[in-house]
Amino acid sequence: MLLENLAFPEVEAYLKEKNVILIPVGSVEQHSPYGLIGTDFIAAECIARETGKRMGIMVAPTLAYGISPHHMAFSGSATLMPETLILVVGDIVKSFLSHGFRRIFFINGHGGNVNSIETGLQRLKADNYPGIFGMISWYDYPEMVDIGRELFDGKEGSHATPSEVAVTRCLRPKEFGTKATIELEIEKPEHHWPLSAEEMRQFFPDGRMGSAPWLATESKGKMVIERSVDALEKKLRKIIAMPLADSSKVQK
Ligand code: NI
Repeated sequence: MLLENLAFPEVEAYLKEKNVILIPVGSVEQHSPYGLIGTDFIAAECIARETGKRMGIMVAPTLAYGISPHHMAFSGSATLMPETLILVVGDIVKSFLSHGFRRIFFINGHGGNVNSIETGLQRLKADNYPGIFGMISWYDYPEMVDIGRELFDGKEGSHATPSEVAVTRCLRPKEFGTKATIELEIEKPEHHWPLSAEEMRQFFPDGRMGSAPWLATESKGKMVIERSVDALEKKLRKIIAMPLADSSKVQK
């Protein structure tokens, strides 16, 4: 159930039954010559929407942009500043709370967003906003570590990973005719963190970080999506079953 395709009476009818909403969030950043600049939001959107369909819960429009300052020396990347995302997270959650949503989860596709999303949610709790909020990264369950080992020989790395590239190959196969496919060395240089844009390009000149994106295929992408949707569903069912605190006792 996609929020963007509904009219407001349909949202009101949904809210009589349920109060859950998923918000996919990604990044607009280079994913090496092997992957799409939209990789992170395309993957998060697909996994959130598949899970929403399976569970009969609403999915909000995708927040495509994220925190990518270290990718700015690669053309096409665009970044929010951490403070911006913290505020955007707060504004989106407050908007949905005002209509009666009470279980609000960001389905994240980009590691760089984690701190800001969590800070945004902590901020809301510090201000006593009622509800259960969360951020779940689709690639970050124990099941996904297993799949990295099974399908990609443990060569996931941490950026332009074969898992995420496989997901996008499965979803947008026509876009890969012009992308790199050759096998390269996997280098894992010692580096500090965080990195500036220039440092990132010096340490990781082709934009990969210890990954083997040439191992990505459409069929493996399908398996990654299925496995991630299974894991996300399991996790969400647990969190959704938690009781809400009595909101009459908290100051909004
Ligand atoms: Ni990514």
